[in-house]
Amino acid sequence: MRKVSILVLMFMALMASSVFASDAKKDHAYVGVKKCKTCHKAQFKSWSETGHAKAFDLLSAEEQKDPKCVGCHSTGTTAKGVFLEGVQCEACHGGGKDFKSSKIMSKKKWKADPEAHKKMAIEAGLIYPKEENCVRCHTKEGNTNFKEFKFAERKELVHPVPAKK
Ligand code: HEC
Ligand code: HEC
Ligand code: HEC
Ligand code: HEC
Repeated sequence: MRKVSILVLMFMALMASSVFASDAKKDHAYVGVKKCKTCHKAQFKSWSETGHAKAFDLLSAEEQKDPKCVGCHSTGTTAKGVFLEGVQCEACHGGGKDFKSSKIMSKKKWKADPEAHKKMAIEAGLIYPKEENCVRCHTKEGNTNFKEFKFAERKELVHPVPAKK
């Protein structure tokens, strides 16, 4: 009992801190990388080979239950626990339930009017990630493994897909 309430208190303290804040305030639900994979095979393949895909595995079994660690090594995590393991698409692009809809992310419709569909997607929660979307995790605060973060350089390594012409 005592142990449980300490854990709950720790979670509440963390909820108040920046680690979970940006995840918790979004109301767009998360669907998981398998859904994105069906249509974005190239980004999926490239992302799979990066540390983000395996970020949850960096933690020991104990650490995977530790609210001090899980926030930045998983996706969509709240006080209820870890939702998706690793730094998945939606950790950067936002919860996908609303924007992945075939009304918005349809090849044909998007191609016919890219600006309108981009706007619809953003309104439905899609994020085109900027530095501010990275530094909630790539920060010194609570992260003993912090390495210098240069957005322009790191952005190219997230899921490099050779440009097709
Ligand atoms: C039913 C297929 C489908 C699903 C599922 C889907 N997408 Fe898309 N998505 C598309 C299409 C089609 C576009 C339009 C641009 C293109 O053709 O790549 C698009 C556009 C995007 C863009 C903007 C690309 C640009 O060039 O502006 C991002 C980012 C994106 N999707 C991320 C995601 C993520 C993250 C998920 C999972 C939560 C997801 N998508 C699920 C088909 C899909
Ligand atoms: C939810 C937390 C989180 C977010 C958001 C995040 N990262 Fe990371 N990132 C991590 C973790 C954890 C690692 C460590 C992975 C490892 O060492 O294997 C990492 C590692 C990386 C790496 C090294 C990848 C590799 O294969 O070793 C790059 C590059 C990177 N991040 C870029 C970015 C960029 C750019 C953004 C924003 C667009 C971003 N990250 C957003 C948590 C995050
Ligand atoms: C504020 C976000 C954050 C928190 C909290 C956090 N990490 Fe990380 N962790 C990261 C990021 C970001 C990286 C990648 C560092 C980089 O490439 O800049 C990382 C990298 C790591 C690595 C790989 C180090 C390496 O040199 O390859 C391990 C192991 C790790 N974290 C374990 C932990 C443990 C254990 C905890 C809890 C005590 C923890 N992390 C808490 C963000 C975080
Ligand atoms: C660590 C953060 C991060 C993760 C994880 C991530 N992306 Fe991205 N994504 C970015 C950034 C940064 C861009 C470039 C945005 C820009 O240019 O404005 C991008 C661009 C895109 C685009 C636009 C076309 C392109 O390739 O440049 C698509 C589509 C996309 N991501 C899909 C995905 C899918 C699907 C996943 C999961 C398999 C994923 N992303 C995981 C950060 C991320």
